Amino acid sequence: MTSLSDIGLQIGVLVESIVSTYSGDTPHAAAMGCMTPDGFTLVIRPFTNTQTFRNLLDRRSLVVNITHDPSLFYRVVFGEPVEFEESRFVDAPVVKEAVAWVEAVSLESKPLSSERVEVLCQVKHVEARLARPLPYSRAEHALMESLIHYTRVKVFKQAGMQQEASKLVEKIKDYERLIRRVSTNPSHLAMVARVVEEIGKLGYDCRG
Ligand SMILES: Cc1cc2nc3c(=O)[nH]c(=O)nc-3n(C[C@H](O)[C@H](O)[C@H](O)COP(=O)(O)O)c2cc1C
Repeated sequence: MTSLSDIGLQIGVLVESIVSTYSGDTPHAAAMGCMTPDGFTLVIRPFTNTQTFRNLLDRRSLVVNITHDPSLFYRVVFGEPVEFEESRFVDAPVVKEAVAWVEAVSLESKPLSSERVEVLCQVKHVEARLARPLPYSRAEHALMESLIHYTRVKVFKQAGMQQEASKLVEKIKDYERLIRRVSTNPSHLAMVARVVEEIGKLGYDCRG
């Protein structure tokens, strides 16, 4: 059986996905983060005022659709048409354009705040349309941006453009905080720590 790691889900790394459920008989899609804490189960963190959460309470079934395509996220966010097909093992639809998906059922919820819960899900089926599906990871995006900014900070410093350099250092700080929030992957953490260290060597304080 295809595993969560086969479709690019790494333990402890939040990825952005499209969660599909049924609202009555109507397929519903919402952009949501998801993460596997152990390589076998999935967690999502819906706000309790979302339709997705209500649908989950109703049917306990969901599909986590994997895509790297911003235009699909865009269409879902703005309620533009998205095509669905039936899943194989759960009472929730699959987004046709997803490059891979996870069919799952909710097991238990625990409150994270007065407005948000963490839902632990049991995986029933994993399927991929591509050989190497790539989920959208904010940590990886933030790492790329940090690397690009790091190279620009060096150039700005050499050119005496202190304000421009400082602006980018602030952005790198934001990205570092984001990476620590959405990933426990040691290689992500080591890479961003190195960027911060190198920024420090250039004379900028980039810690926390
Ligand atoms: C990339 C992305 C990730 C999101 N992640 C979450 C999330 O983890 N939990 C959540 O409740 N809303 C999240 N949202 C916001 C929901 O998609 C949005 O509020 C949606 O309208 C709520 O879902 P609903 O249509 O089921 O009510 C995210 C939005 C985007 C664009």
